[in-house]
Amino acid sequence: MHSPVLLRRQDAPARDLEAYIASGGLAGLKKAREIGPEETVRMVTDSGLVGRGGAGFPTGRKWESVRTAKDPERYFVLNADESEPGTFKDRQMIDVDPFLVLEGVLIACFATHATRAYIYVRGEYRREADLLQRCAAELGAAGYLDGLGPEGHALAIEVRHGGGAYICGEETALFRSIEGYRGEPMSKPPFPTVAGLFRKPTAINNVETIANVPDIMSRGAAWLRSLGTERSPGVKLYSVSGHVGRPGVYELPFGVPLRELLDLAGAQQDLQAILLGGAAGTFVFPQDFDMPLSYEGAQQRHATLGSGALIAFDHETNLWRVAERLGSFFAHESCGQCVPCRVGTRRQHEMLEALAEGDGRGSERDLLVRLSQVMTDASICGLGQTASTAVRSLIDAETKGLLAV
Ligand SMILES: Cc1cc2nc3c(=O)[nH]c(=O)nc-3n(C[C@H](O)[C@H](O)[C@H](O)COP(=O)(O)O)c2cc1C
Ligand code: SF4
Repeated sequence: MHSPVLLRRQDAPARDLEAYIASGGLAGLKKAREIGPEETVRMVTDSGLVGRGGAGFPTGRKWESVRTAKDPERYFVLNADESEPGTFKDRQMIDVDPFLVLEGVLIACFATHATRAYIYVRGEYRREADLLQRCAAELGAAGYLDGLGPEGHALAIEVRHGGGAYICGEETALFRSIEGYRGEPMSKPPFPTVAGLFRKPTAINNVETIANVPDIMSRGAAWLRSLGTERSPGVKLYSVSGHVGRPGVYELPFGVPLRELLDLAGAQQDLQAILLGGAAGTFVFPQDFDMPLSYEGAQQRHATLGSGALIAFDHETNLWRVAERLGSFFAHESCGQCVPCRVGTRRQHEMLEALAEGDGRGSERDLLVRLSQVMTDASICGLGQTASTAVRSLIDAETKGLLAV
């Protein structure tokens, strides 16, 4: 039985600073201040922590680039936009342990010499934005931001409300949104660590990624590596919804079989499939439910963990209808900046509508596959590049005769 790490205060949330410190909080920040920025980044690198926002990029490497940047002005951004359908673990993380998240932000700012921190919270998460704002103010009033800002001043933390679009979670679109423009992605390179927010070196991390940092500092890099697998150290939060008895957020060490998570979430009935990794993820069928939930385990089955969303579907579900809903989501959320995605997501949706109604022809599947290739190869950002991932996995499954309806 796994005892929770990130969600350890779930039953008794520490939403005031006194309670947080009384339950061991701020030990990570203390340690970071003792060993200095360079060693702090080294510990994060050695722990093997990778981003939980979907891309799985090594956090220490990102921080090191910003720490060693030439420009004295640089930023840290916390990505709490969480707009992927079926994903709600960052909201729970903030709700249960806002100070743990903020302690991670302070350590990140200290390690990268950030001159200011921005916290970008999904527009609909008003309560969580207010909570973070209040907790940041408490930390400031108690002097914990002192000396973390430029030239020994207090660090400024700004909480921003998200622009209400899925694309605003993409890092470069998020920067544009903070800057006051439409949330439209920019081509990379340059990468954010070189020219990010306001074209300054910027480290950006997901809420769950950052919540790991205080414990890495206080318990050591080897501690994180003692959990999970060699290539996926640590624990993961999963947002589980759909045809399960106990939908919610679950924490497990990496490497646990998918079936175990489904059991925990009360998936009693015989499931047809799950959508793993959110709207941009892949359909996974029962013959793969023994898959270890780790980055490498998913990769071996041509799946993706994404940000850890799982939506379960029973045998009554028409998965083409699910794909049509996903297609509608992507067509609606495409920012329209580049043709493969702007036009491709619309054409994809039209074809999925026909398939969901049962009047799609075989040629439509071929066309969907070719369209998917173009969108994946030629779209500017991750939205267009992954808008057809789930559809492709469904076509493969249909070919293998795995669909019930
Ligand atoms: C369309 C799109 C939406 C995204 N939405 C989010 C999001 O809501 N939250 C998030 O942390 N990352 C999101 N990402 C990933 C971010 O661009 C970025 O990789 C992440 O914030 C980096 O943090 P990490 O290294 O800690 O994962 C999104 C990416 C794309 C392409
Ligand atoms: S891929 Fe889609 S969302 Fe991304 S920049 Fe192009 S049009 Fe916008």
